[in-house]
Amino acid sequence: MSSLVEFKATAPAKIILFGEHAVVYGKPALAVPVSSLHVSVTATPADKTIIEAADLEQTLPDGMSADELTDPLLRMISTTAHHFGMQPPKMRFSIASSIPVASGLGSGAAVSAALGRAVALALGQDISAEALNSLVYDIERIHHGTPSGIDNTVIVYEKPVYFIRGQNPQTFEVSHPIRLLIADTGRTALTRESVGDVRKLVMSEPSRINPILDAIAYTVDVARDALAHGDNVSLGRLMVENHALLQHLTVSSPELDRLVKTALDAGAIGAKLSGGGRGGNMIALVTPETESAVTAALILAGAVRVISTIVG
Ligand code: MEV
Repeated sequence: MSSLVEFKATAPAKIILFGEHAVVYGKPALAVPVSSLHVSVTATPADKTIIEAADLEQTLPDGMSADELTDPLLRMISTTAHHFGMQPPKMRFSIASSIPVASGLGSGAAVSAALGRAVALALGQDISAEALNSLVYDIERIHHGTPSGIDNTVIVYEKPVYFIRGQNPQTFEVSHPIRLLIADTGRTALTRESVGDVRKLVMSEPSRINPILDAIAYTVDVARDALAHGDNVSLGRLMVENHALLQHLTVSSPELDRLVKTALDAGAIGAKLSGGGRGGNMIALVTPETESAVTAALILAGAVRVISTIVG
C-alpha cells in the first residue's frame, strides 16, 4: 500500500511590470505573480531528508547546520526547520516546476518558497508570509548576491506588489485587469551578472546612470496610477519608455529588442523586457483583438514560448 502521508505546497512565478534593476538602488518597482506557471513540492516519508527534482537527488548530510550548507535547496529545508527550533523532517521533497529557469520569472525564489511551505507543513507548523519571505530572501542572496527582495516578496505574498527595498511591501488590486503576453527569448541569463554589470556602471558613471534610475522610478509611479485608472494607452507608452531606459543600463539584448519591436509592430499597446534581462522573457500589453496576431508574430520572430496571462 502506498504511503498515505503526503504534504503538498506550491508557489507561483512572477513578472516585473516596471522598475527592475532600479529597484536594487531603492527605487520603486511593480511586480505581479503568474500562477499559470508554478513550482509544486510534494513531501513523503523517507529515511533521510532528501531533495529530488528532474535532474538531481540530494541527501541532507547528518548533523550539518544550515550555515554550513551551500546548496540553496538543502539550506532552505534546514533554515525553515531551524526557524521552528526543529530538526529537518525525514522526508523526500520532490520538486516539479513549470517555470523556466534563469529567464526572469523567479524560478529560484518559487522553488525556495514552495520548499519552505512544504517543510512547515511536514513539521505541523504554520509559517507566516513575513517569516517565509525573510527565509527565501536569505536563499536568494546565495543565487543573486545583492537582490532587492522583490522576487521573493511577490512570490511569497502571491499578490501584485509595489515594492521599495527595505520598506514593507504594499500589495495592490489591479482594478482594471490587463492582458499580457510573456514571450521567452529562449536564451537563459543570470540575474547576478546583469545586476553586477549595472552595479559597475552605477559606481563608475554615477552622473550618467543615476538620472536613468530616477527616470525608471518616475515611470513606475506613473504606471501605478495608469494601472489604477485602467489607462492602457499610458501603460503601453510607459512600458516602451522603461524598455529604452533598461537598454541604457545595458541589460537588454538583440533578442529582447527584436521581440519588443515585433510585438509593437504587430499591434501590442506596449512591450518591454521583464526581470534581469540579457535574455529571458519580455512582456507585451495586448487586447483580446490583438492577442493572436502578436502571439503569432512573436513566435515567428523567434520566441520559444508565449504565455498569455490576465493581471488583475
Ligand atoms: C530580477 O527579477 C529583478 C532585478 O531587479 C534584480 C532584483 O531586484 O534583485 C533585476
